[in-house]
Amino acid sequence: MKFFLDTANLDELKKASAWGIIDGVTTNPSLIAKEGVPIEEQIRRICDIVDGDISAEVVAVEAGAMIREGRELARIHKNIVIKVPLTRDGIKACSALSKEGYKVNVTLCFSAGQALLAAKAGAYFVSPFVGRLDDIGADGMELIRQIVTIYQNYSFKTQVLAASLRTPNHVIDSALAGAHIGTAPFKVFDSLFNHPLTDKGLDQFLKDHHKAFDQQTVAV
Ligand code: E4P
Repeated sequence: MKFFLDTANLDELKKASAWGIIDGVTTNPSLIAKEGVPIEEQIRRICDIVDGDISAEVVAVEAGAMIREGRELARIHKNIVIKVPLTRDGIKACSALSKEGYKVNVTLCFSAGQALLAAKAGAYFVSPFVGRLDDIGADGMELIRQIVTIYQNYSFKTQVLAASLRTPNHVIDSALAGAHIGTAPFKVFDSLFNHPLTDKGLDQFLKDHHKAFDQQTVAV
């Protein structure tokens, strides 16, 4: 399973990259807006930090304009994946851009039917939003399971990028469901490290070490 960091914040990217576990980055217009830097500049800085697929989202809403904007975004760096919303225009743009050889991430996917449309349009990634479905009382993880099964049934090449993951359990359940990638904010990956028995075990190892060797030093 690949891990993508869902952020446009450079400090978070640098910290998580140093762990050596980040395979790519997803951004969206809200995340870019938070950083207060023009999209092109911020995306370029992100590409300098992480060597992997970097999703950059179009803000145009009409297919022709999305295609033009997507081509421009792809010029920023070879690792850019053009992100388009799962609308009629987005799917039209995905079909055209995919045929031109660009990688496209179809985002804002909330149903298995929508995921089928993305696969048919040649999407490189589809991004089903787990957390936002949970927010409205639906079962976000069930959507991941459905899409993985449907894509396997027909050997679709589109990769399932489980998005809007908000907790460590979301990451684990996406992995169990067979999602190719999970994208989550820094704090979710940071939380994956935590286990009280790891802390307790390490504390004991160090105490035992110091007890044995500090005493030996004293004896010598
Ligand atoms: C990723 O591509 C999405 O933009 C992101 O995961 C959305 O997450 P959110 O629902 O927590 O904003």
